[in-house]
Amino acid sequence: MIKRHEKQQQFEESDANLIVGNIEKCPISPQQLALTTSDSPYVVQTFNSGLTAEVYRIRLNGKDYTLKKKRPVARVQNLDGQFSFLNEVQRRSYFQQIKDAPQTSDAFRCIVETIYADYRLGIILSDWIEGEPVKKLTPSLLSQLFSTLTECEKVGLFEWDLCAGNLLVDSNQKLWLFDFGYMYEFDPLTEFNSDGTNAPLFQFCERFETRFFSGWLLEQGCSHRQSIEVFRNVKQAAVNVLAEKKSWLQRHRADRAISHFAEALREQYLTALESDASLENLFTVEMFRSHVLDIEDDLDGKSCTSTTIKRVNTVLEMIENFYPLLQEQDALFFHNEGKSKEQLINSYQKKLSLVKQYQLQPDECPRDHG
Ligand SMILES: Nc1ncnc2c1ncn2[C@@H]1O[C@H](COP(=O)(O)OP(=O)(O)OP(=O)(O)O)[C@@H](O)[C@H]1O
Ligand SMILES: [Mg+2]
Repeated sequence: MIKRHEKQQQFEESDANLIVGNIEKCPISPQQLALTTSDSPYVVQTFNSGLTAEVYRIRLNGKDYTLKKKRPVARVQNLDGQFSFLNEVQRRSYFQQIKDAPQTSDAFRCIVETIYADYRLGIILSDWIEGEPVKKLTPSLLSQLFSTLTECEKVGLFEWDLCAGNLLVDSNQKLWLFDFGYMYEFDPLTEFNSDGTNAPLFQFCERFETRFFSGWLLEQGCSHRQSIEVFRNVKQAAVNVLAEKKSWLQRHRADRAISHFAEALREQYLTALESDASLENLFTVEMFRSHVLDIEDDLDGKSCTSTTIKRVNTVLEMIENFYPLLQEQDALFFHNEGKSKEQLINSYQKKLSLVKQYQLQPDECPRDHG
């Protein structure tokens, strides 16, 4: 068992509780909130797709709130899933402290306000965000997202699950983050992410491209030209925060490997922004990596959708058209490492039939982990 799971298991088995916020701000008692079902008179809307929680939009005294309620039994086997509700209450406890402190509140303005949470009662009450899923990836939205993620990293928090269901945009074009079930602690001065120094591959821009952007482009049916233009905005926004991140790392005497990595990433993105041809190449390499990673995720969880099929077909096309580039750019990693073009095609054809076998039914469609 990894350390995080051990600590969470210990907490789970202890008598300790974790409460966030002030009970006076609760519109009804926490005990009553915990008894909420879809039939409760104050429930306006139910989101039932979560594996570890149910989410309700509720209305009390003319004000809307979001109530996230822990399922008695998680619908997911792995420990990350089993502890994701506890993990979220832990994250919110800290976020609320830094949101409430005047020096840090602005940096975390895109993080939803927690009104009250009680782990043992299994409730998290938040502001209701009147928003919509991301429809247009504007520079402003990307900048809000990446700067929030950078601020999180600076306080030692790494977000893994930036899927479409975990991002909302309100009518003022403000971005909101509200699901922290898969946001884990790490040391930003000595580690790349919450997996330590094992896999620098996983970083904020990659997480966004893997969990959101690569699938979103396929679902939107964007033309290649349009996709490249949005990709340019993504990398430009990443370059902007990486410059700041790098000087922060240096000021705080981060390990050389860590600051070097941030600098190398910034230079790689900057170089790509300098010419259409190198932007095209980076687009191919990044989308290949993101599709490859997300396909494995969906296969692992036996939770494939029509987008997973599109992803595998795109990967097959990319192998066909860009094999030498992928090889040269180290895009063949993990299970793809060292494979010839034929072996790769073979492998992804097999995955294609598995993906078709593991299609979720429409009523069980968790497009996110949490
Ligand atoms: N504060 C909020 N304001 C408005 N809508 C919200 C808020 N929180 C959640 N939602 C809506 O509810 C959906 C599910 O919420 P959330 O992502 O927190 O849980 P989940 O992913 O379903 O849970 P699980 O961790 O069990 O998988 C979101 O995709 C969003 O549409
Ligand atoms: Mg979610």
